[in-house]
Amino acid sequence: MASHRLGQTRRLGEQASVAHRNRRRHPKITQRGRAPKATLDRRTRSSSVGETLARGCGAPAPTPARHDNPVHAGRATGRPPPRRSCSLSCPLPPPTYRRSITDRHTAYSRHVPSTAPYDEIADWYEHEFLTRSRGLSRHPLGIDSALRDLLGAGKGPCLEIGCGTGEWAAMVRGLGWTPIGVDLSAGMLSHARGRLPIAQADAVHLPVTSSAVAAAITVMVHTDMPRYPDVLREVTRVLRPGGSLVHVGVHPCFCGGFADRSDTAAVMIGPGYLDGNWTTESWTNQGVRDKVGAAHWPLPDLMHAFLDAGLMIERLFEGGAPVPTVLAIRARKQ
Ligand SMILES: C[S@@+](CC[C@H](N)C(=O)[O-])C[C@H]1O[C@@H](n2cnc3c(N)ncnc32)[C@H](O)[C@@H]1O
Repeated sequence: MASHRLGQTRRLGEQASVAHRNRRRHPKITQRGRAPKATLDRRTRSSSVGETLARGCGAPAPTPARHDNPVHAGRATGRPPPRRSCSLSCPLPPPTYRRSITDRHTAYSRHVPSTAPYDEIADWYEHEFLTRSRGLSRHPLGIDSALRDLLGAGKGPCLEIGCGTGEWAAMVRGLGWTPIGVDLSAGMLSHARGRLPIAQADAVHLPVTSSAVAAAITVMVHTDMPRYPDVLREVTRVLRPGGSLVHVGVHPCFCGGFADRSDTAAVMIGPGYLDGNWTTESWTNQGVRDKVGAAHWPLPDLMHAFLDAGLMIERLFEGGAPVPTVLAIRARKQ
Protein backbone atom coordinates (compact mmCIF):
# COMPACT_ATOMS: atom_id res chain seq x y z
CA MET A 1 0.00 0.00 0.00
CA ALA A 2 1.32 3.42 -0.76
CA SER A 3 0.17 6.97 -1.07
CA HIS A 4 0.90 8.70 -4.36
CA ARG A 5 0.96 12.24 -5.50
CA LEU A 6 -0.90 13.04 -8.68
CA GLY A 7 2.20 12.98 -10.87
CA GLN A 8 2.57 9.26 -10.35
CA THR A 9 -0.73 8.38 -11.96
CA ARG A 10 0.78 8.46 -15.44
CA ARG A 11 3.28 5.81 -14.50
CA LEU A 12 0.48 3.62 -13.18
CA GLY A 13 -1.35 4.01 -16.48
CA GLU A 14 1.72 3.07 -18.45
CA GLN A 15 2.20 -0.12 -16.47
CA ALA A 16 -1.08 -1.47 -17.75
CA SER A 17 -0.32 -1.52 -21.45
CA VAL A 18 -2.89 -3.69 -23.12
CA ALA A 19 -4.21 -3.30 -26.61
CA HIS A 20 -6.69 -5.97 -27.49
CA ARG A 21 -10.40 -5.65 -27.80
CA ASN A 22 -13.07 -6.84 -25.48
CA ARG A 23 -16.15 -6.71 -27.63
CA ARG A 24 -18.78 -6.97 -24.96
CA ARG A 25 -21.12 -4.04 -25.04
CA HIS A 26 -22.17 -1.99 -22.15
CA PRO A 27 -25.67 -2.82 -20.93
CA LYS A 28 -27.68 0.21 -20.18
CA ILE A 29 -29.25 0.56 -16.77
CA THR A 30 -32.85 1.10 -17.67
CA GLN A 31 -34.57 4.20 -16.44
CA ARG A 32 -37.92 2.75 -17.35
CA GLY A 33 -40.64 4.51 -15.84
CA ARG A 34 -42.00 4.54 -12.44
CA ALA A 35 -43.05 7.57 -10.55
CA PRO A 36 -40.19 9.14 -8.58
CA LYS A 37 -39.56 6.65 -5.83
CA ALA A 38 -36.64 7.79 -3.72
CA THR A 39 -37.49 6.45 -0.33
CA LEU A 40 -36.31 7.77 2.97
CA ASP A 41 -35.89 5.27 5.70
CA ARG A 42 -38.08 5.95 8.68
CA ARG A 43 -35.98 4.07 11.23
CA THR A 44 -32.94 6.25 11.04
CA ARG A 45 -31.09 7.50 14.07
CA SER A 46 -28.11 9.73 14.48
CA SER A 47 -27.18 13.20 15.56
CA SER A 48 -27.56 16.47 13.63
CA VAL A 49 -28.42 15.52 10.05
CA GLY A 50 -29.48 12.07 11.12
CA GLU A 51 -31.88 13.44 13.69
CA THR A 52 -33.36 15.75 11.13
CA LEU A 53 -33.74 12.86 8.77
CA ALA A 54 -35.46 10.80 11.41
CA ARG A 55 -37.78 13.70 12.19
CA GLY A 56 -38.51 14.15 8.52
CA CYS A 57 -39.42 10.55 7.99
CA GLY A 58 -41.70 9.43 10.72
CA ALA A 59 -40.89 10.85 14.12
CA PRO A 60 -43.04 13.83 15.11
CA ALA A 61 -41.25 17.11 14.53
CA PRO A 62 -41.97 20.70 13.66
CA THR A 63 -42.63 20.78 9.92
CA PRO A 64 -40.08 23.46 9.02
CA ALA A 65 -37.21 21.34 10.32
CA ARG A 66 -37.52 18.67 7.68
CA HIS A 67 -35.80 20.69 5.00
CA ASP A 68 -32.74 21.13 7.19
CA ASN A 69 -31.86 17.66 6.16
CA PRO A 70 -29.93 17.69 2.92
CA VAL A 71 -31.33 14.37 1.81
CA HIS A 72 -34.90 15.35 2.47
CA ALA A 73 -34.51 18.92 1.31
CA GLY A 74 -33.01 17.84 -1.98
CA ARG A 75 -36.24 16.17 -2.81
CA ALA A 76 -37.84 19.57 -2.78
CA THR A 77 -35.71 21.18 -5.41
CA GLY A 78 -35.78 21.36 -9.12
CA ARG A 79 -38.84 19.33 -10.01
CA PRO A 80 -42.59 19.27 -9.61
CA PRO A 81 -43.91 18.32 -6.21
CA PRO A 82 -44.80 14.70 -5.65
CA ARG A 83 -48.53 14.10 -5.72
CA ARG A 84 -49.11 12.50 -2.34
CA SER A 85 -46.66 12.01 0.50
CA CYS A 86 -43.02 12.85 -0.16
CA SER A 87 -42.09 9.22 -0.57
CA LEU A 88 -43.63 5.80 -0.34
CA SER A 89 -42.50 5.37 3.26
CA CYS A 90 -42.67 8.93 4.49
CA PRO A 91 -45.95 10.07 5.96
CA LEU A 92 -45.18 13.77 5.75
CA PRO A 93 -46.97 15.97 3.25
CA PRO A 94 -45.02 16.81 0.11
CA PRO A 95 -42.19 19.23 0.69
CA THR A 96 -42.60 22.75 -0.62
CA TYR A 97 -41.58 23.08 -4.24
CA ARG A 98 -38.57 25.31 -4.48
CA ARG A 99 -36.51 25.95 -7.53
CA SER A 100 -33.50 28.15 -7.81
CA ILE A 101 -31.30 29.02 -10.74
CA THR A 102 -28.52 26.90 -9.27
CA ASP A 103 -30.80 23.90 -9.02
CA ARG A 104 -32.32 24.27 -12.45
CA HIS A 105 -30.02 21.70 -13.98
CA THR A 106 -31.48 19.09 -11.67
CA ALA A 107 -35.01 19.67 -12.91
CA TYR A 108 -35.31 16.31 -14.61
CA SER A 109 -37.68 13.62 -13.55
CA ARG A 110 -35.97 11.55 -10.90
CA HIS A 111 -36.71 7.99 -11.83
CA VAL A 112 -35.14 5.28 -9.80
CA PRO A 113 -34.26 2.51 -12.25
CA SER A 114 -36.78 -0.27 -11.92
CA THR A 115 -34.16 -2.97 -11.49
CA ALA A 116 -31.32 -3.07 -8.98
CA PRO A 117 -28.94 -5.96 -9.70
CA TYR A 118 -27.72 -6.02 -6.10
CA ASP A 119 -31.18 -6.96 -4.80
CA GLU A 120 -30.47 -10.51 -5.93
CA ILE A 121 -27.15 -10.84 -4.13
CA ALA A 122 -27.70 -8.59 -1.11
CA ASP A 123 -27.86 -11.44 1.42
CA TRP A 124 -24.79 -13.14 -0.05
CA TYR A 125 -22.95 -9.79 -0.07
CA GLU A 126 -23.74 -9.08 3.57
CA HIS A 127 -23.40 -12.57 5.03
CA GLU A 128 -20.65 -14.10 2.87
CA PHE A 129 -18.72 -11.58 0.84
CA LEU A 130 -18.23 -8.97 3.54
CA THR A 131 -17.58 -11.47 6.31
CA ARG A 132 -14.33 -12.49 4.58
CA SER A 133 -12.72 -9.22 5.63
CA ARG A 134 -14.62 -8.48 8.83
CA GLY A 135 -12.76 -8.94 12.08
CA LEU A 136 -9.33 -8.60 10.47
CA SER A 137 -7.07 -5.99 12.03
CA ARG A 138 -6.64 -4.38 8.59
CA HIS A 139 -8.80 -4.68 5.50
CA PRO A 140 -6.86 -6.74 2.92
CA LEU A 141 -7.59 -4.19 0.21
CA GLY A 142 -6.75 -1.24 2.43
CA ILE A 143 -10.24 0.25 2.31
CA ASP A 144 -10.10 1.19 5.98
CA SER A 145 -6.68 2.80 5.57
CA ALA A 146 -7.87 4.68 2.50
CA LEU A 147 -10.81 6.14 4.39
CA ARG A 148 -8.69 7.02 7.39
CA ASP A 149 -5.96 8.64 5.30
CA LEU A 150 -8.02 10.40 2.69
CA LEU A 151 -11.28 11.23 4.48
CA GLY A 152 -9.72 11.68 7.88
CA ALA A 153 -11.41 13.19 10.90
CA GLY A 154 -14.11 15.75 10.33
CA LYS A 155 -17.55 16.99 11.21
CA GLY A 156 -20.80 17.34 9.33
CA PRO A 157 -22.78 15.18 6.95
CA CYS A 158 -20.78 12.65 4.95
CA LEU A 159 -22.84 11.18 2.14
CA GLU A 160 -21.97 7.64 1.12
CA ILE A 161 -23.08 7.06 -2.45
CA GLY A 162 -23.77 3.39 -3.06
CA CYS A 163 -23.62 2.67 0.66
CA GLY A 164 -24.83 -0.90 0.13
CA THR A 165 -25.32 -2.63 3.45
CA GLY A 166 -23.71 0.23 5.36
CA GLU A 167 -20.43 -1.55 5.97
CA TRP A 168 -18.42 1.67 6.34
CA ALA A 169 -20.89 3.73 8.36
CA ALA A 170 -19.39 2.92 11.75
CA MET A 171 -15.92 3.87 10.58
CA VAL A 172 -17.11 7.15 9.07
CA ARG A 173 -18.93 7.93 12.31
CA GLY A 174 -15.80 6.99 14.25
CA LEU A 175 -13.92 9.66 12.32
CA GLY A 176 -16.41 12.25 13.59
CA TRP A 177 -18.61 12.56 10.50
CA THR A 178 -22.35 12.00 10.33
CA PRO A 179 -22.83 9.26 7.72
CA ILE A 180 -25.84 9.31 5.41
CA GLY A 181 -26.30 6.61 2.79
CA VAL A 182 -27.85 6.49 -0.66
CA ASP A 183 -28.20 3.31 -2.68
CA LEU A 184 -30.30 1.97 -5.51
CA SER A 185 -30.88 -1.47 -4.07
CA ALA A 186 -33.66 -2.01 -1.56
CA GLY A 187 -32.11 -5.39 -0.78
CA MET A 188 -28.77 -3.87 0.15
CA LEU A 189 -30.43 -1.06 2.09
CA SER A 190 -32.44 -3.55 4.12
CA HIS A 191 -29.13 -4.55 5.73
CA ALA A 192 -28.01 -0.93 6.11
CA ARG A 193 -30.98 0.00 8.29
CA GLY A 194 -29.82 0.70 11.80
CA ARG A 195 -26.28 1.43 10.60
CA LEU A 196 -26.92 4.86 9.10
CA PRO A 197 -29.71 7.09 7.81
CA ILE A 198 -30.50 5.94 4.28
CA ALA A 199 -32.37 6.90 1.13
CA GLN A 200 -33.08 4.75 -1.90
CA ALA A 201 -32.08 6.64 -5.00
CA ASP A 202 -30.04 6.56 -8.15
CA ALA A 203 -26.63 8.14 -7.70
CA VAL A 204 -27.06 10.24 -10.82
CA HIS A 205 -30.11 11.91 -9.27
CA LEU A 206 -29.16 12.32 -5.63
CA PRO A 207 -32.06 13.35 -3.41
CA VAL A 208 -29.85 15.93 -1.74
CA THR A 209 -29.98 19.67 -1.94
CA SER A 210 -27.13 21.51 -3.65
CA SER A 211 -24.00 22.43 -1.66
CA ALA A 212 -25.36 20.63 1.41
CA VAL A 213 -22.78 18.06 2.41
CA ALA A 214 -19.29 18.55 3.76
CA ALA A 215 -17.94 15.28 2.43
CA ALA A 216 -18.93 12.36 0.28
CA ILE A 217 -17.52 8.90 -0.20
CA THR A 218 -17.91 6.20 -2.83
CA VAL A 219 -16.55 2.83 -1.76
CA MET A 220 -16.15 0.08 -4.34
CA VAL A 221 -18.99 1.40 -6.45
CA HIS A 222 -17.68 3.20 -9.50
CA THR A 223 -17.51 -0.04 -11.49
CA ASP A 224 -21.18 -0.58 -10.66
CA MET A 225 -22.15 2.78 -12.11
CA PRO A 226 -21.91 2.98 -15.91
CA ARG A 227 -22.67 6.69 -15.58
CA TYR A 228 -19.95 7.37 -13.01
CA PRO A 229 -18.85 10.60 -14.73
CA ASP A 230 -22.44 11.85 -14.26
CA VAL A 231 -22.36 10.65 -10.66
CA LEU A 232 -19.24 12.74 -10.09
CA ARG A 233 -21.01 15.80 -11.50
CA GLU A 234 -23.90 15.11 -9.15
CA VAL A 235 -21.46 14.78 -6.25
CA THR A 236 -20.02 18.16 -7.14
CA ARG A 237 -23.51 19.63 -7.03
CA VAL A 238 -24.25 18.34 -3.52
CA LEU A 239 -20.83 19.10 -2.00
CA ARG A 240 -20.25 22.39 -0.26
CA PRO A 241 -17.52 24.50 -1.84
CA GLY A 242 -14.30 23.14 -0.36
CA GLY A 243 -15.99 19.83 0.45
CA SER A 244 -14.24 16.65 -0.54
CA LEU A 245 -15.09 13.39 -2.21
CA VAL A 246 -13.18 10.28 -1.28
CA HIS A 247 -13.45 7.66 -4.00
CA VAL A 248 -12.27 4.16 -3.12
CA GLY A 249 -12.55 1.87 -6.11
CA VAL A 250 -11.06 -1.16 -7.79
CA HIS A 251 -7.75 -0.27 -9.33
CA PRO A 252 -8.35 0.50 -13.00
CA CYS A 253 -4.94 -0.82 -14.03
CA PHE A 254 -4.80 -4.09 -12.14
CA CYS A 255 -8.45 -5.07 -11.64
CA GLY A 256 -11.15 -5.79 -14.18
CA GLY A 257 -12.28 -8.37 -16.69
CA PHE A 258 -8.87 -8.02 -18.36
CA ALA A 259 -6.88 -8.91 -15.22
CA ASP A 260 -6.28 -12.46 -14.05
CA ARG A 261 -5.57 -12.18 -10.34
CA SER A 262 -5.56 -15.90 -9.57
CA ASP A 263 -1.89 -15.51 -8.63
CA THR A 264 -1.91 -12.35 -6.55
CA ALA A 265 1.85 -11.99 -6.89
CA ALA A 266 1.81 -12.17 -10.68
CA VAL A 267 -1.30 -10.49 -12.01
CA MET A 268 -1.77 -11.11 -15.74
CA ILE A 269 -3.13 -8.24 -17.81
CA GLY A 270 -5.08 -9.50 -20.82
CA PRO A 271 -7.19 -7.84 -23.48
CA GLY A 272 -9.70 -5.18 -22.50
CA TYR A 273 -7.95 -2.50 -20.46
CA LEU A 274 -8.20 0.19 -23.11
CA ASP A 275 -11.72 -0.62 -24.17
CA GLY A 276 -13.58 0.41 -21.06
CA ASN A 277 -16.48 -1.93 -21.68
CA TRP A 278 -18.96 -3.45 -19.29
CA THR A 279 -18.17 -7.09 -18.55
CA THR A 280 -19.06 -10.00 -16.32
CA GLU A 281 -15.75 -11.66 -17.12
CA SER A 282 -13.76 -12.46 -14.02
CA TRP A 283 -10.93 -14.70 -12.94
CA THR A 284 -13.07 -15.84 -9.97
CA ASN A 285 -16.65 -16.86 -9.32
CA GLN A 286 -16.31 -15.83 -5.68
CA GLY A 287 -16.51 -12.11 -6.35
CA VAL A 288 -19.09 -9.54 -7.37
CA ARG A 289 -18.25 -8.85 -11.01
CA ASP A 290 -19.22 -12.28 -12.36
CA LYS A 291 -22.62 -11.87 -10.69
CA VAL A 292 -23.65 -8.31 -11.50
CA GLY A 293 -21.09 -7.20 -14.10
CA ALA A 294 -18.79 -4.21 -13.93
CA ALA A 295 -17.91 -1.06 -15.83
CA HIS A 296 -14.32 0.00 -16.41
CA TRP A 297 -12.51 3.21 -17.20
CA PRO A 298 -8.85 3.28 -18.20
CA LEU A 299 -6.89 5.39 -15.74
CA PRO A 300 -6.83 8.66 -17.72
CA ASP A 301 -10.59 8.46 -18.37
CA LEU A 302 -11.25 7.98 -14.67
CA MET A 303 -9.02 10.94 -13.76
CA HIS A 304 -10.62 13.12 -16.43
CA ALA A 305 -14.08 12.28 -15.08
CA PHE A 306 -13.06 13.90 -11.79
CA LEU A 307 -11.54 16.94 -13.45
CA ASP A 308 -14.46 17.37 -15.85
CA ALA A 309 -16.84 17.29 -12.89
CA GLY A 310 -14.99 20.19 -11.28
CA LEU A 311 -13.25 18.07 -8.66
CA MET A 312 -9.60 18.84 -8.03
CA ILE A 313 -7.62 15.67 -7.31
CA GLU A 314 -5.55 16.13 -4.14
CA ARG A 315 -4.28 12.79 -2.90
CA LEU A 316 -4.05 9.22 -4.14
CA PHE A 317 -3.72 5.91 -2.34
CA GLU A 318 -3.19 2.32 -3.45
CA GLY A 319 -4.37 -0.61 -1.35
CA GLY A 320 -3.72 -4.32 -1.54
CA ALA A 321 -0.39 -6.05 -2.04
CA PRO A 322 1.76 -7.12 -3.76
CA VAL A 323 -0.21 -5.84 -6.77
CA PRO A 324 -2.69 -3.15 -5.70
CA THR A 325 -6.39 -3.97 -5.89
CA VAL A 326 -7.68 -0.56 -4.88
CA LEU A 327 -7.04 2.96 -6.08
CA ALA A 328 -8.43 5.66 -3.81
CA ILE A 329 -8.68 9.34 -4.65
CA ARG A 330 -9.44 12.43 -2.60
CA ALA A 331 -10.81 15.25 -4.69
CA ARG A 332 -12.08 18.66 -3.63
CA LYS A 333 -14.83 20.89 -4.94
CA GLN A 334 -13.34 24.28 -5.70
C1 LIG B 1 -20.01 -3.38 -4.49
S1 LIG B 1 -21.39 -2.65 -3.70
C2 LIG B 1 -20.56 -1.58 -2.53
C3 LIG B 1 -21.39 -1.29 -1.32
C4 LIG B 1 -20.63 -0.57 -0.19
N1 LIG B 1 -20.16 0.72 -0.61
C5 LIG B 1 -19.51 -1.43 0.33
O1 LIG B 1 -18.33 -1.02 0.21
O2 LIG B 1 -19.78 -2.50 0.88
C6 LIG B 1 -22.01 -1.49 -4.91
C7 LIG B 1 -23.26 -0.77 -4.47
O3 LIG B 1 -23.55 0.25 -5.42
C8 LIG B 1 -24.97 0.32 -5.55
N2 LIG B 1 -25.32 0.96 -6.80
C9 LIG B 1 -25.08 0.51 -8.05
N3 LIG B 1 -25.55 1.40 -8.95
C10 LIG B 1 -26.08 2.42 -8.26
C11 LIG B 1 -26.71 3.63 -8.62
N4 LIG B 1 -26.87 3.96 -9.89
N5 LIG B 1 -27.13 4.47 -7.64
C12 LIG B 1 -26.96 4.14 -6.34
N6 LIG B 1 -26.37 3.00 -5.93
C13 LIG B 1 -25.94 2.15 -6.88
C14 LIG B 1 -25.39 -1.13 -5.48
O4 LIG B 1 -26.76 -1.27 -5.22
C15 LIG B 1 -24.49 -1.66 -4.39
O5 LIG B 1 -25.08 -1.54 -3.13
